[in-house]
Amino acid sequence: MAHFTKATSIKDWLDQRLAIVKVEKVLASEYWIPKNINFLWAMGMILVITFVMLVISGIFLLMYYQPNVDLAFDSVNYTIMREVGYGWLWRHVHGVAASVVFLIIYIHMFTGIYYGSYKKGREMIWISGMLLFIAFSTEAFSGYMLPWGQMSYWAGMVITNLFAGGSLHADGLVEWIRGDYVPAQAFLTRFFMLHVLLVPLAIIGLIGLHFGALRIPHVNNQDGEEIDFDEESKKYLAGDKAGSKVIRFANDFMAKDMMVVGFYLVFFFYLVFYHYGFAMDPVNFDPADGLKTPAHIYPEWYFLWSYEILRPFSTDVGLMAFAFAQGIFVFLPFLDRSPNAIPASRRGLFKYWFWAMLIDMIALTSMGKLPPEGAFSTIGLVAALVFIGLWIALPIITYFEKKA
Ligand code: HEM
Repeated sequence: MAHFTKATSIKDWLDQRLAIVKVEKVLASEYWIPKNINFLWAMGMILVITFVMLVISGIFLLMYYQPNVDLAFDSVNYTIMREVGYGWLWRHVHGVAASVVFLIIYIHMFTGIYYGSYKKGREMIWISGMLLFIAFSTEAFSGYMLPWGQMSYWAGMVITNLFAGGSLHADGLVEWIRGDYVPAQAFLTRFFMLHVLLVPLAIIGLIGLHFGALRIPHVNNQDGEEIDFDEESKKYLAGDKAGSKVIRFANDFMAKDMMVVGFYLVFFFYLVFYHYGFAMDPVNFDPADGLKTPAHIYPEWYFLWSYEILRPFSTDVGLMAFAFAQGIFVFLPFLDRSPNAIPASRRGLFKYWFWAMLIDMIALTSMGKLPPEGAFSTIGLVAALVFIGLWIALPIITYFEKKA
């Protein structure tokens, strides 16, 4: 048993039992952040805040939502939207946050790619980030099922059908996932469980892992500078704050983070109050009907790029291309063969690779919502082939990149 003395204050009492002073140092006042990072490094904090808003608004929605195929649609569109005081507000916060979180995730990911923040000991940050991306995708998809509208039903049908594996005809697997031949009560109940329990728990665990993975390598910086954090933090603690290349996370860096968060919240609530419609598909305001297939079935905007990689090919090739697109980002730290952890602008062919990938994914996203006809389907096919080609080219061009 450890040695306990008579506490001099509540803080001291807690410190003897929970080492709160050490925890505070590890997480805040001696968590060192490079000085040379820009507003893009606030995206991680914005993601945490958006996740918290999703959880809080979700808890309020959960108080009135009914996970029953006969009641779900009305519990959302009638009870929550019209009867419950401010129910509409919680729904709009939840819907807008679910959409905007993906915008921020994509900015956060492409920041990491641009600055090479997945290299030299930062691989686990990247891998845990990609696991978070998969978890958020599952969370968004399962949530989309819950209002039990036409798009919920038919998107549920299309996505679960993918598990049949094309000509493998694994129909038993599809039925096992649905718990029925078609999406019905068993399907709704299990996606409800995933959405409110299992996936949020996984996300919380993964955020812990993501933060843990950041602890040893520390965050990267915008100049690709190799910072000796031990040396620089000693300088800071010795009083040479101006000469040190690092600052404390709290309260120094957090002030900058919070300013960016402030701008974000203004933008966020502007969307909630004036433009919430972009986060709600009009087709989903019709109740689910298994006998009436909508003219076009498409996912939410953040899944369109990978959907467009599935569409232009025959079923089997499309499925393989889709699986490739879903999985390939995880391997980025190992496919980029160059040791240079510097901004893309200072790298050889990689700088063209970065912009080509970004533009290609925007092109895929734009085509994904349009009907697959004429010029749209040709552009979609070319963009899908470019996507695959870029990933094949990555190890080759980075292998020959000069060491900076
Ligand atoms: C969705 C939930 C996520 C949360 C809450 C989150 C949170 C954070 C936070 C707080 C940081 C440190 C500050 C910053 O650089 O912004 C960070 C860094 C990082 N995250 Fe995420 N992240 C998430 C998703 C992702 C995803 C999807 C990826 C991409 C695979 C990713 C990759 C990274 C990388 C590479 C860094 C290190 C940046 C650097 O060293 O400069 N994260 N994340």
